[in-house]
Amino acid sequence: MKITVVGTGYVGLVTGTCFAETGNEVTCVDIDVNKVKKLSEGQITIYEPGLEKLFERNLKEDRLFFTTSLEEGIKDAEVIFLALPTPPGADGAADLSYVLNVADHLGKIMTDYKVIVDKSTVPVGTAEKVTAAIAKNCKAPFDVVSNPEFLREGVAVDDFMKPDRVVIGTQSERARKVMGDLYAPFVRQGNPILFMDEKSAELTKYAANSFLATKISFMNEIAILCEKLGADVDMVRRGIGSDERIGKRFLFPGIGYGGSCFPKDVQALVKSSEDVNYNFKILNAVMEVNETQKLFLLPKIKAYFNNNLKGKHFALWGLAFKPNTDDIREAPALYIINALLEEGATVSAFDPEAMKNVRQVVGDKITYAEHQYTCLENADALIIATEWSVFRTPDFNKISAALKNKAIFDGRNLFETGRMKELGYHYESVGRTPSTL
Ligand code: UDX
Repeated sequence: MKITVVGTGYVGLVTGTCFAETGNEVTCVDIDVNKVKKLSEGQITIYEPGLEKLFERNLKEDRLFFTTSLEEGIKDAEVIFLALPTPPGADGAADLSYVLNVADHLGKIMTDYKVIVDKSTVPVGTAEKVTAAIAKNCKAPFDVVSNPEFLREGVAVDDFMKPDRVVIGTQSERARKVMGDLYAPFVRQGNPILFMDEKSAELTKYAANSFLATKISFMNEIAILCEKLGADVDMVRRGIGSDERIGKRFLFPGIGYGGSCFPKDVQALVKSSEDVNYNFKILNAVMEVNETQKLFLLPKIKAYFNNNLKGKHFALWGLAFKPNTDDIREAPALYIINALLEEGATVSAFDPEAMKNVRQVVGDKITYAEHQYTCLENADALIIATEWSVFRTPDFNKISAALKNKAIFDGRNLFETGRMKELGYHYESVGRTPSTL
């Protein structure tokens, strides 16, 4: 099948590459000239495990192309995916201008039947708006389909190749057949393709992400309670997670959820609810809990240093919003950095993938270490903000030799509290009894 993907961000590039991998001919369109040049020359523009190999192979085998021209990109394409940004606007609602501009343009240049697929996370009712924007100028027949993505960064290729489910919102039989054929190779193992109406598909995406965010904020509040009551959140997590109705996954407390999806999607669903005069009470609380959770470690750090962080130097391990990505959007680490700098402290950071991105935002307000251990030099304490595997079994001798105080503030519960006590650390984490010296 000939496919076009408009937008070559995380979602667009993964979508395009994975469809090419199953034998389709895919043209990716982006307005960013530099990006298109790089991608055409075989230089991948994002870090996503496993993607580069597929990207190189499909480029070499002439199944994957890049262009800045929408007109050229959609020539002969049967399906056009819109994987464009939908950032939160000033009022918290998703800004649809990128999506609607492209829809408008498509209407002017389409000459034969095409299926236009909303892959971006868009509010309920967007398929109707996209249909209207295309129809304004279009003489050719077309269908607009909502096909939300459920890709997790870091495992996006796997999620695309073996999805738990594929959600397709359309009421057109013709589009249903096209989409069913396109996704058939991805659901061979028996996971479902769920066909539904456009609005239900659009809401499914927001409901899924908001539910997961709710799980996290709920566990973060349980963690706070554990500390106050002297319980251990790891035990509580295991205790409730073994109930199949609750499930083991997504119950890890920490320093809040971040990334490009959860914060924006929860906010957008709250806004959509307000637009229809409904106050989504739970989600307002989910957002409020997450805001405070990002700075959960700060009072603990301040208490350890007698409420004075002026002139203190901190080593920070982890900048990405989660491991296996270089994405720093809404990363709790950025909030911690700002708070520490405001208190008059200095920061040296290390992250296996995200330092380049942080440098662009934070610049030389902090220093960037080449290695996780050189990051510790002259630091008064170590703070951990992302659970990268390389931080999980560190050389504690090297840590204690480099740090001025044997103090670790861990926002991701990487170490056993008992072990840290044995090793003589002042160790504070989330929802567990601290080991204090
Ligand atoms: C998420 C959804 O999982 C995906 O289906 C959707 O399409 C896009 O948004 P992603 O943003 O890549 O994917 O990250 P995910 O792995 O879901 O983690 C989101 C955030 O939740 C991270 O900040 C992570 O640290 C946090 N998290 C996750 C927790 O704090 N605790 C957990 O138990 C799980």
